[in-house]
Parts: sequence; structure tokens; C-alpha cells
Amino acid sequence: MAKSDVIYICQECGASQSQWGGRCGSCGEWNSIVEELTTGSPPKGLSKKRGRKINFVELKGTEETYPRMLSKIAEFDRVCGGGLVPGSAILVGGDPGIGKSTILLQVCVALSFAKDARCVYISGEESIDQVRMRAKRLGLSDANVELASATSVRDIITSLNDNNSPTVVVVDSIQTLYVDNLDSAPGTVTQVRTSAQELISLAKRRGFALFLVGHVTKEGNIAGPKVLEHMVDCVLYFEGERGHQFRILRAVKNRFGSADEIGVFEMTDIGLSQVENPSALFIADRENGVSGASVFAGIEGSRPMLVEIQALTAPTAFGTPRRAVIGWDSNRLSMVLAVLEARCGVSISGHDIYLNVAGGLRITEPAADLAVAAALVSSLTDVPVPQEMVVFGEIGLSGEVRRVSQSGARLKEAEKLGFNGAMTPKAHLGSSPKKKEISSSLNVIRIKHLEQLLNYMRIEGEKKLPKNEITN
Ligand code: TYD
Ligand code: MG
Repeated sequence: MAKSDVIYICQECGASQSQWGGRCGSCGEWNSIVEELTTGSPPKGLSKKRGRKINFVELKGTEETYPRMLSKIAEFDRVCGGGLVPGSAILVGGDPGIGKSTILLQVCVALSFAKDARCVYISGEESIDQVRMRAKRLGLSDANVELASATSVRDIITSLNDNNSPTVVVVDSIQTLYVDNLDSAPGTVTQVRTSAQELISLAKRRGFALFLVGHVTKEGNIAGPKVLEHMVDCVLYFEGERGHQFRILRAVKNRFGSADEIGVFEMTDIGLSQVENPSALFIADRENGVSGASVFAGIEGSRPMLVEIQALTAPTAFGTPRRAVIGWDSNRLSMVLAVLEARCGVSISGHDIYLNVAGGLRITEPAADLAVAAALVSSLTDVPVPQEMVVFGEIGLSGEVRRVSQSGARLKEAEKLGFNGAMTPKAHLGSSPKKKEISSSLNVIRIKHLEQLLNYMRIEGEKKLPKNEITN
């Protein structure tokens, strides 16, 4: 018997240590170390035994093309990089109640209509009746999907490892599974890692696509060791603001397609339905001629998308002004505010600021800087940004507006949705001199420095003045 069978494992990064501590020595996380039991002695180094020689091949050979399985839910197929690859493992993470089980059941049913497809849905969280009830609600109860409620990895593997192996397997969720020769509780790092490893290697051997549902921690990362994300081929996050019906499926890692691709869905009373033209939807409820709003022409993955950015500024009642941001990075907001104040002399420090990206979308692009600045200036001066104008551009610390990628696609999307103007960085060519000027029928206002935005808004304000005087 080994001297000690107890090890202490950080639940954040998976590092193990021999003693308990309040803080992980590897990742620095507090209170993440949990006692776990191990069986057997720790692995030793390689023995003297010789291995088999591996064959090296040339890089330029022909590669195998993967046949893709299409669910015909276009938004989902796009996020997966154009359909599912047999033998791949996909980890789907998201907040509780966001709709992970719902979308995977819908996808499973959609895939089961393909010829010779055998789709299996294994739930460790819900009973068979609960899954049936959901399927009934979604109007999918007559689909050819096999259900099971199981949590033992050994049982699952025994059931799937036969000649009639399935084409798609959904496991909801990886945190409920356990491997019976480990003593630690389900959901701990060792259990999650081992369960995933066993299932992924079976998926590769048998060639089925494996979906693993993963819980997220309160910081929004998938619970369990980071290695879980390294082990799988695709990591998808299902996100959305509570209270909004929009849900966004975002690929953050994809070995078979581009990462950062998103699919937009709407949660309805009969499940998730895909949104084919998200731009039209995100800007649908705009009000006419209101100050403090601008339309940002962004790029999500390979797709241009227009969203409305709203800002509200109000004189602060307290010593420290409030900064509340929904859907954007608060550090970036601080930077834009600092640039407006220091480089353009706009006085903001006495104002509370609320910034919101309408529709519950989360923007990560720096290209939104100029749109945020426009919304802020518009709110401060009470001058609306022209209704039919989109804005994009990155702001540098000296107040310069920098070029961003894919200007052409952004302008084209704006044109398609009936906009007639755009505020863009001055140089919106590519860096190579060979690239042509992007032609557009929009009335493009080029901004080199943030000052120009302020001047533009000043002129817009003066234009409005006579009308205001009449109404007063
Ligand atoms: P669920 O898929 O169970 O979430 P997760 O697996 O991510 O925890 O989704 C549950 C939520 O979705 C619940 O709050 C109710 C809502 N919902 C609908 O609004 N319409 C529907 O048709 C279904 C099935 C669920
Ligand atoms: Mg669920």
C-alpha cells in the first residue's frame, strides 16, 4: 500500500500538491484546493523497454477531408465550422438555465433525421421523464433519439462500445459523471478529467461526435480543470443576458473551423429558434432622434453585425461617479473616458455613466471604441448621432482613431440594412498600398482624431438649434 493516498488538487488549474493550502501555488487562486484520494502509486518515468518506431511523413501529402454532419440548424452548423466532424468532442458551457440542454436536445433531434443516424442523449442531471417532458414541449417527441439517464462512465462506455455504435452522443453534464475506481466525488478535477478522457477516446475510436455539457464557475469559465478545454476539439459557450430572449452560441476554440464564430438564437416558449438576420433584430427597437445612442458596425467571427450602443450620463450625486457597463469591457470604457477628458477636454469626471449594448450582445472588439465615444458625447451634449449612420474605429491613447479590419464588410452590412452614412477611421485601407479604396455608396465621414468627432457633433448640434428654438 502506498504511504499516502491523499493528494490536494486545485479545482481551477488542476495542479496537485502534497499539502493543503489556502492558495494554489500554481495559479494563485484562493480557496480552490480540495483533498482528493488517489489509488495506486504515482506514475514512474519510462522504463528501459524500447518503444515502436513511428513513421514520419512529408507535410505536403494529401489530407483526409472530414465528412461533415449537418444539423440543418444553420446557426449551429456555422458555429461548428460547417457541420460536425465524426469523432470530434465538443464541450458546451454556459450559465445554469441558459438553454444548454434545450439546444443540445434540438440538435440531437435535428441530426437524428439524417439517414442511418443513431443519436443518443444521456442525461445525468434529469430523469428520462423530465427529458421527455421537454421534448414534448418542443414538439420533438416523435423523433428517433435514444434516451438514458446514467452517471457511471463504465456503464456508458460498455453501452456505447459495440458494433452498432452511435453517430452522435450528448452527455449532460460532465460534472455529474463518475469513474468508479476513483474515490473522489463527481465534479472534482480528477473525476471530470478522467471521465472526459475515457469518453473522448471512445468517441475517437468509434467515430461518433460527442457533446459534453460543462457547468461554468461564477467567473464564467467552464468548471473543472483547464485541461478539459485542451482535450476537446471544440469549445462552445452559450451566453446571453438573463431577461433577454437572445442567446448567443460562441465558438472559443475550434480545431475544424474558425473560432469566434457566433450563432444567434431566440428563446421562445417552444424552444430555441435561430435568428437569421441578427443585425436587423439588434437595431429593431431604436428610437428616432434620441441622444446617447449610436449604431456600431461590428464583426462577430466572419459575420458583420450591427448593434446599438446606448450611453446615459447624469451628474453624480456622490463623490465617486458610477460607471456601469453591460455588454462591453469596463476597462475599455475607462480608457475611452480618459482619452475624451485628457485629449479633447471633455469634462466627464462629475458624471455617472451607464453604458449598455442593446439586445444582450457582448462586444469584445476594440473597434467599438468610436461608437462608444459617439454615444457618450451625444449623451453629454444632448445631440443625437444621425439616425442613419453607423460608427466604427479603434481609439488610441493620444486620441487618434485607428483603422480596423474588414471595413468593407461592415459598410456593406450597413448599406444592406438601409443606412446612408458611416463614421470610420481616416485610413480604412488595408496596410498594403496595393489594396484598393473600399467603395461604398454610403456618405462616409473619416475621423483621424477624436477631436473631429466632437466638432462633428458640435455642427450637428448647431444644425438642430433653430428647430429647438421653434419648439420652445
Ligand atoms: P435548459 O436547457 O434546461 O438550461 P441549462 O441546461 O442550460 O441549464 O433551459 C431551461 C430554461 O429555458 C428555463 O429557464 C426555461 C427556458 N425554456 C423556455 O423558455 N422555452 C422552452 O421551450 C424550454 C424547453 C425552456
Ligand atoms: Mg441542463
